[in-house]
Amino acid sequence: MNLPGKVEIIEVGPRDGIQNESNFIPTEKKIELINELNKTGIKRMEATSFVHPKYVPQMRDAKEVLDGIEQDPSIQYMALIPNEKGYERAVESGIKALSLVVGASDSFNLKNVKMTREQSMESFEAVIEKAKVNDIFIRYNIATSFWCPFDGIVDYKLVLSMVERMEQLGVDEIVLCDTIGRANPKQVYDLFKEAVSLKTEAMITAHFHDTYGMAMSNVMAALQADVTRFDASIGGLGGCPFAPGAAGNAATEDIVFMMHEMGIDTGIDMDQLLACIEIVKPFTNRDLTGHLHKVKTCKSY
Ligand code: COA
Ligand code: ZN
Repeated sequence: MNLPGKVEIIEVGPRDGIQNESNFIPTEKKIELINELNKTGIKRMEATSFVHPKYVPQMRDAKEVLDGIEQDPSIQYMALIPNEKGYERAVESGIKALSLVVGASDSFNLKNVKMTREQSMESFEAVIEKAKVNDIFIRYNIATSFWCPFDGIVDYKLVLSMVERMEQLGVDEIVLCDTIGRANPKQVYDLFKEAVSLKTEAMITAHFHDTYGMAMSNVMAALQADVTRFDASIGGLGGCPFAPGAAGNAATEDIVFMMHEMGIDTGIDMDQLLACIEIVKPFTNRDLTGHLHKVKTCKSY
C-alpha cells in the first residue's frame, strides 16, 4: 500500500464543527476549546467565521473568540469568510489566514452565500489581491466538489477548472470538500488524482463529511491519490446549515487513530485531543459520531 510517513490534520471543529449547533456555545467555552486544542499538537485550525450572524448565529462572536484565545505563534488560526464584507471584518480582527469558500454547484452557492459561483469567484479575486498585499495566507475551499444537495453529482472537470483558476490567483491552499458527505472512495480517488497531477504550488487538502459512513474510506482513497492533508473535526461534529442532511465531519480522533495505527505520524496527542471533546460535548444536542471517544480501552496509540 502506498502510504506517507506523515500527514497533516487541520482542525475545523471550532468553525465547521460547531457552526450548525442550535444551542449557542458560550464564547468562553469556544475560547477554552481552542486553547486546549493548542496543546494537542495541531498546527492549523479554522477558529471561526466572519459570516452574517443572522444566517449563522453560532459564529456571531467571531471577533471575541479571536481576541480571547491564547494565540500560539507556531499555530495558524484561520477564519472562514464568504464575501468582501467578511474580509473587512476578518482583517480588522488582525487574523493572518483566511479560508474562502465557493460552491462548485451554483444552486448550493446561491443558498450558502446568495451569489452564483461566478459572482463569488469574481468578488474573491479582489479579496485575494488585497490579502496578498497584507501578507495573508489564503485557503480556498471548493464546497460541493463531488455532490450538490440540490443538483446531484458535480462535474469533476468543473472542479478541476476551478482548481486551475485558483492556482493562477496564487492562493496557498485549495480544499476539495465533500460538503454533504455523499462521495464514494472511487470518486474521491479519481478527482484527487487529477487535482494532484496538476502539480499546483497551492497545497491540496481533502475535507470529508460522514453522512453515508464513507468519510474514513474517503480519507484512505485520498491518501492513495497522494493527498497528505485532511480537514477534520473533533468528535465528528459538523454540518452545514445550507446543505440539508449533511452529517458531521470526519472525526479528528478517528483519523489520528487510524493514521497512528498504520505508522503514519500526525504530531497529535490522542489523550489531549479526547480531552477537548469533553469541553464541547455538553453543549451539543446530538450524539457525537466519532468513534474513539466512546472506546475506553484503546491504548495502542
Ligand atoms: N458579515 C456580517 N455582515 C455581512 C456580511 C458578513 N460577512 N456580509 C454582508 N453583511 C451585511 C451587509 O453589510 C448588509 O448589512 P446592512 O443591511 O446593515 O447594510 C447585509 O449583510 C446584507 O448584505 P448582502 O451583501 O446583501 O448579504 P446577503 O444578505 O446577500 O448575505 C452572506 C450574504 C454571505 C453574508 C450570507 O449569505 C452569509 O453569511 N452566509 C453564511 C454562509 C456560511 O457561513 N455557510 C457555512 C459555511 S460554508
Ligand atoms: Zn464541511
